Amino acid sequence: MSDTNATPKLESRVDAADDLLTIQRTHAAPPSTVVIFGASGDLAKRKLIPALYNLVACGQGLMPPESAVLGFARREMSLDDFRSSAKEWTTRFSRLKVDEGCWQNFAQGLDYLSGLDQPDGFTKLKSKLEEIEKARKVPANRIYYLSIPPEAIIDCVQRLAESGLIAPANAPQFTRVVVEKPIGHDLESALEINRTLLKYLNESQIFRIDHYLGKETLQNLLVLRFANNIFERLWGSRNVDHVQITVAEAEGLGTRAMYYEGAGALRDMVQNHILQTLALLAMEPPVSLNASAILEAKLNVLRALKPVQSDPAHPSVVRARYTAGILDGKPVVGYMDEQGIPDNSMTETFVALKTYIDNWRWSGVPFYIRTGKRMTRRASSVFVQFKDVPQILFNQDRSLPANLLTLRIQPDEGFSFDVMAKQPGLNLSLRPVRMNLSYESAFGGGVSPDAYERLLLDVMDGDHTLFPSGNFVEKSWEFVQGVLDLWKDKRRVPMREYPAGSWGPVAAEELIHADGRMWHEP
Ligand code: BG6
Repeated sequence: MSDTNATPKLESRVDAADDLLTIQRTHAAPPSTVVIFGASGDLAKRKLIPALYNLVACGQGLMPPESAVLGFARREMSLDDFRSSAKEWTTRFSRLKVDEGCWQNFAQGLDYLSGLDQPDGFTKLKSKLEEIEKARKVPANRIYYLSIPPEAIIDCVQRLAESGLIAPANAPQFTRVVVEKPIGHDLESALEINRTLLKYLNESQIFRIDHYLGKETLQNLLVLRFANNIFERLWGSRNVDHVQITVAEAEGLGTRAMYYEGAGALRDMVQNHILQTLALLAMEPPVSLNASAILEAKLNVLRALKPVQSDPAHPSVVRARYTAGILDGKPVVGYMDEQGIPDNSMTETFVALKTYIDNWRWSGVPFYIRTGKRMTRRASSVFVQFKDVPQILFNQDRSLPANLLTLRIQPDEGFSFDVMAKQPGLNLSLRPVRMNLSYESAFGGGVSPDAYERLLLDVMDGDHTLFPSGNFVEKSWEFVQGVLDLWKDKRRVPMREYPAGSWGPVAAEELIHADGRMWHEP
């Protein structure tokens, strides 16, 4: 189970002519107006506006030129100010470099409206949309991107419906609503949000977004598992000892204290990104690549997920928050000293847990999960640890490291497989070697589209494959609610601490050491 970082590397090679199957986007998405609710928020700045720019940028042509983007928020702001802020955000965060000519084209379709919190805000929104559609000759295809806190979703959807802003699902022009995670605060609120969404919208009009599903490595998981014969035959309790998922972030709160304090690592990362990753990794082969077949296969994993147990002597869940520490050589403050955090905060910035999938394939295989802010570095990986070879032949005197498949989600997306090999020479000496595939070196180093670009395009196209279903969201909350219920008893699951810049609290190490295993460094 030791890491083999220092071993020689066998680099993989991919020939350009090996492009055997391409499922291509053969058409541009239909023209539409994307309304960003909460347009001055962090997500709009860092992700949504830059992603939309990349979709219309010269040469991409994926979003028709008459399409429009309307920022809708509470704050008063002139259109000029909104456009110049949007340019600044895009220059900072865009994948493609901002080109002046392309920017001018994009900016002409960029509009702003304040009054999201005002009684007549939605009436104004209706007039504004009609005005944009007339001026730009864009059909009334409308996408409402709700980049707002979970507690505001219900009110927002009701107001959209009351203002006549939701067309029926079978209308010639579409209305689609994109809902950001976390959808709800607990199981009860998630159920209520789902009920409200379904009261006013058809499931086909709802896109619950989880940007991890737009990441290359997660998409490649399907290809790795089902376009290769070798892995699927090994995938399950006969051969796999255990699985680890680590999503580590170096970043702290930034300007998001208000949101984060009400969420914490469990709701912010586990309920969505990590359970999605787990489901893709563990699901049975779907009967086809259709959205519904994949969604059903993933849902079955959650149906079999065992609730986390709480045995104080052998805890299966650890929560913690960071204290002051050093990151990248610089001192950083602890969570309790971040701006806007109340003295009685019980919000965790780290969570580690062990769970099982109670089905035929995975029976008895532990899945260890950990995620946190202000950890040593930004690095996320999935590790599939295979079982030891039998204790005969090479494995008699000293235990050999078992095979390890590592799927690197970020950075340096790709995967590696650790195997044992004979070191060249007269002696019989065994060395672990890592077969490594880095997407960047294998596929020419182009920058992959950002997850939000792909997902926004899918919304425009009406493709649900990469979006969690309502059932999945509810099931994932059921699992998370089990953990939240355990946390009500502070003595059973105390709040631990870890210094910023570390891999987490000692208790998380103990959680896995108790099973005779250790965390792999992502
Ligand atoms: C978001 C969370 O959904 O995902 C953030 O709200 C987190 O807290 C982010 O930082 C991580 O995304 P990525 O793509 O940087 O791994």
